[in-house]
Amino acid sequence: MTSRYNEVYAAWQADPVAFWAEAAKEIDWIKPADQVFNPDSGAYGRWFDGALCNTCWNAVDRHVAAGRGETQALIYDSPVTNTVTRYSFAELQAEVVALAAVMRGLGVARDDRVVIYMPMVPQAVFAMLACARLGAVHSVVFGGFAAQELATRIDDATPKLVISASCGIETARVIAYKPLLDEAIALSAHTPAHCLILQRDTLACDLAAPRDVDYAAAVAVEKAAATQVRCVPVAATDPLYILYTSGTTGQPKGVVRDNGGHMVALKWSMAHHYGVKPGQVFWAASDVGWVVGHSYICYGPLLHGCATVLYEGKPVGTPDAGAFWRVIQDHKVTALFTAPTAFRAIKKEDPTGARIADYDLSHFRTLFLAGERSDSATVEWAQAKLQRPVIDHWWQTETGWPMSGNPVGLGAFAVKLGSPGKAMPGYDIRVLDDAGQPVPVGTLGNIVCKLPLPPSSFPTLWNAHARFKTSYLDEFPGYYATSDSGIIDDDGYVFILSRTDDIINVAGHRLSTGAMEEVIGGHPDIAECAVIGVADAVKGQMPLGLYVQNNGSNREASALEAELVKLMRAKIGAVAAFKTAVCVARLPKTRSGKVLRATIQKIAEAQDFKMPAAIDDPLILDEIRAALTARNLIAAPQ
Ligand code: COA
Ligand code: AMP
Repeated sequence: MTSRYNEVYAAWQADPVAFWAEAAKEIDWIKPADQVFNPDSGAYGRWFDGALCNTCWNAVDRHVAAGRGETQALIYDSPVTNTVTRYSFAELQAEVVALAAVMRGLGVARDDRVVIYMPMVPQAVFAMLACARLGAVHSVVFGGFAAQELATRIDDATPKLVISASCGIETARVIAYKPLLDEAIALSAHTPAHCLILQRDTLACDLAAPRDVDYAAAVAVEKAAATQVRCVPVAATDPLYILYTSGTTGQPKGVVRDNGGHMVALKWSMAHHYGVKPGQVFWAASDVGWVVGHSYICYGPLLHGCATVLYEGKPVGTPDAGAFWRVIQDHKVTALFTAPTAFRAIKKEDPTGARIADYDLSHFRTLFLAGERSDSATVEWAQAKLQRPVIDHWWQTETGWPMSGNPVGLGAFAVKLGSPGKAMPGYDIRVLDDAGQPVPVGTLGNIVCKLPLPPSSFPTLWNAHARFKTSYLDEFPGYYATSDSGIIDDDGYVFILSRTDDIINVAGHRLSTGAMEEVIGGHPDIAECAVIGVADAVKGQMPLGLYVQNNGSNREASALEAELVKLMRAKIGAVAAFKTAVCVARLPKTRSGKVLRATIQKIAEAQDFKMPAAIDDPLILDEIRAALTARNLIAAPQ
């Protein structure tokens, strides 16, 4: 099939409003938009202004009303609890309605915020959809975050209700969620009125009435009473959710997603980017706590009438490197979406891909990778072993769907290794120099998108509109700054090379080194510190901390390191994957006092570098190299 990409992208360029008006026909609207795009609303205009809709209706009820109630909707596959449970659209609707009834009884109404702090269980998806049904705004917090991070989000979102579980299961480790939740609520200034807690068989927790409510018992009451909860009409521009993501400081940014544009863009992407059809099985092997989980575990597949797989397991260790192939076989998965790190983990354990032959992958069509740079070796391995297209695509929490990719539904174009494809309709991607001028084709620069952003992309940051403007819109007037740098080649292929801020990408997880520095800097024995991301063969990057001890502090470096590792787990969470902190006498700085993090990173990665012109004392670089060499922390040259 020849690709229709050029034709469709050109159609979008010629008339973006007509393009999205056409795409919007795939959604049920309670009231259609007064204006498909209102350029005078919001920071750069708003999509589907004046429309009324409900996301839960479109994801669930609509399919039941159309007679597809018995079609499978959600497949929960949990190797860590030896469970597989399938929900049809009708069963999903029953679960969501009962939970919405419970939430309504607990006082949750339209516009109220609900924090969801859950492991990968179906109730996490029920909770998201029940919020959407009520017009409430959910904020899912990834289970790997510690109490302090949860507290920050509770304070910012001020939820009326928190929905959580007694525990999460990380392969061999059971994580008690409830003590983390209790600690977070104790740390936060805002107190949610109620916590709805799912008791899991693996580990139950104490419930303190009247604040804590048992999820299963409360839902059972509403099911027995057959309580009905209709989908509440909301404005297309009303928030569906807030998803916090790492910014350049310890204060996370609450990305706001609206209802209408989100549905339109996700539905379009399912058909045209991912190339799947209603009734097929889509599997995003991510976590509901990340944007990939929001868009392509929960909303995208369900809006499209696909079955979605919710997998509570890992690519390796649950039980082995054949886990992904087993899930694809058992549930007849058509498309798998995961982060390259998952494939690197599989490749490390099963380098020849021998386990693939043990499973029937006949329904499997395409592998999609995103979340971090796809290294060519991993893509080539996956192509060779799976004998199927491997599609890298690039996007961010802020956009909610791919900015660049390769539209399988329109006919994929040739893959260029190292590139996550070309700009998707909706995105006019440019490369600018630091002064905001376009760079010649093929030249490295700041990747930006010409405003307006398309449907689904964020209109603002929760409670922080000024920060939204300074972080994303002010640097390059007329453009959205992605904070990624890269190039666009002669053929329009985008190449993403690195972040321009202090964000690092560890196992596909977006983390702020600034936030980590705040944790280390808060230790009483530390004078100053720097955290950098260093290339890692499996996780892409790993954080490395360097610190200078206070004058007068006589703590042993090894004891201090163990304390810092523990502190990072307690303050940010295990997800930070912070394992190494090296004591150094001094940090290299410019004469104006800026720590030369990029140079430290080059030393740690054994890369060549140019001596920074403004360096204060070049000898410090030798000291850093010696300290890292002594700990065997200089990577082998790549
Ligand atoms: N709840 C609690 N803890 C969690 C967690 C969760 N939901 N998710 C991860 N953690 C913990 C892990 O157990 C680990 O703890 P440890 O230091 O005690 O071992 C720590 O956080 C770091 O996790 P991670 O970096 O994910 O490492 P891992 O060794 O557990 O797994 C991979 C490595 C590559 C298999 C795994 O990261 C993976 O599958 N990544 C895919 C990434 C992804 O889905 N990205 C989303 C965008 S597509
Ligand atoms: P997140 O908001 O967590 O999805 O992280 C977004 C960031 O991950 C982007 O800004 C990029 O730095 C990186 N990223 C995501 N997808 C890709 C990709 N396909 N190639 C390179 N980097 C990517």
